[in-house]
Amino acid sequence: MLIQVFPNTIRTLLAFTEFAVMIKSKPSPRIGTPLSSTATKVMLLGSGELGKEVIISLQRLGVEVIAVDRYANAPGHQVAHRAYVIDMTDGVALAELINQEKPDLIVPEIEAIATTALMEMENAGIVRVIPTARAAWLTMDREGIRRLAAEELGVATSPYRFADSLKELKAGAAEIGFPCVVKPVMSSSGKGQSKLSSIADVESAWDCAASGGRVDAGRVIVEGFIDFDYEITLLTVRAIGADGEVHTHFCEPIGHVQVNGDYVESWQPQVMHPEALQKAHDIAKKVTDNLGGLGLFGVELFVKHDMVWFSEVSPRPHDTGMVTMASQEQSEFELHAKAILGLPVNVAMKTPAASAVIYGQHDAKVVAFEGVAEALHIPGTDIRLFGKPESFARRRMGVALAGAADVETARKNAKTAAAKIKPVAPS
Ligand SMILES: Nc1ncnc2c1ncn2[C@@H]1O[C@H](COP(=O)(O)OP(=O)(O)OP(=O)(O)O)[C@@H](O)[C@H]1O
Ligand SMILES: [Mg+2]
Repeated sequence: MLIQVFPNTIRTLLAFTEFAVMIKSKPSPRIGTPLSSTATKVMLLGSGELGKEVIISLQRLGVEVIAVDRYANAPGHQVAHRAYVIDMTDGVALAELINQEKPDLIVPEIEAIATTALMEMENAGIVRVIPTARAAWLTMDREGIRRLAAEELGVATSPYRFADSLKELKAGAAEIGFPCVVKPVMSSSGKGQSKLSSIADVESAWDCAASGGRVDAGRVIVEGFIDFDYEITLLTVRAIGADGEVHTHFCEPIGHVQVNGDYVESWQPQVMHPEALQKAHDIAKKVTDNLGGLGLFGVELFVKHDMVWFSEVSPRPHDTGMVTMASQEQSEFELHAKAILGLPVNVAMKTPAASAVIYGQHDAKVVAFEGVAEALHIPGTDIRLFGKPESFARRRMGVALAGAADVETARKNAKTAAAKIKPVAPS
């Protein structure tokens, strides 16, 4: 299989193995010159708005970046040294590209990639995947990470069942009770997700999951609904310290609001009951210790008073963490870039801040944005327009950021700024 995918000589493979072992045991902070034989090469698998910011951070450190996505002119493609369009769920296509580019590091930015191919290549010592190929594999669907957290690590989660058919879902939902939430095992941004209040809702939830899931549309999770006070993303960074050991750093908690499972605004810090904060740290440490490797993780948690439930984790920057571009000394993207290169990180905050999403509002091939100056006249605001080549009404096209003396003012200003930005479709 490997020989088929990698028609290289055994000698080259062995050389790769030695190199991989070397960087695995002690990631080298040595950084080469891009576009030269010394270049430190990083390949992003997925080049959306989060990947674009990781790439910008890597570019600032003199890293040569290769951006990969499933469509042309993705946001990250526009700021990388080289850009490729491939189906990243196709293990052979992915292996061919890796073999051609020979990156030092592979940074998955999305879940839907051929993680088994990455695991094979990592095991063979050909690539180093961030944080690890196993972490990318475990978090690519809800089942791997849920079973790890709840069944192996004993972390508190909502009660859950998995189902492969409408009949199994009916039985699972009845066992869990109502209200409950049904989600495809492979989906993100709330796609294919529904909340059920009674057994009468099961059939439509099954249909919704089948149409909204990715790749494997036939399997769903049904979770008990957690009546939380608020939910947070706890950005957790595994980075090498001055002593050469891996240390875990926690950013201040990020509060956020989700509509139909998709993030619309976030803020930092979210004030928490001290016991809940301690539990959040303990859960995040347990989960990220197990996933291992270096880099930043977005640990999603539900909180009610002093109780905390683990929901899921991204082994990469998190959409709600875009607020850190305004709130922290080093954004989540810079933290990720530095941590994966074996460099030290600083998770300190700069100011309370908030983010608010700017949607496309139109289904159109291209849009233009008006009101940018008006948005930026609001004190403490900034914006990011992602440069996505096509707009959909509910597609995230940009984000407004606002720093202020307190979170309430920051949230108000970020939302006002986002509302001032008007995407217009050419007639
Ligand atoms: N069991 C639950 N109880 C209460 N609310 C839930 C539950 N599961 C999900 N939600 C709500 O739906 C949101 C999205 O759920 P989840 O994070 O599992 O989906 P997702 O599609 O992976 O979203 P994303 O990719 O944006 O993180 C959560 O942030 C939360 O607001
Ligand atoms: Mg989520």
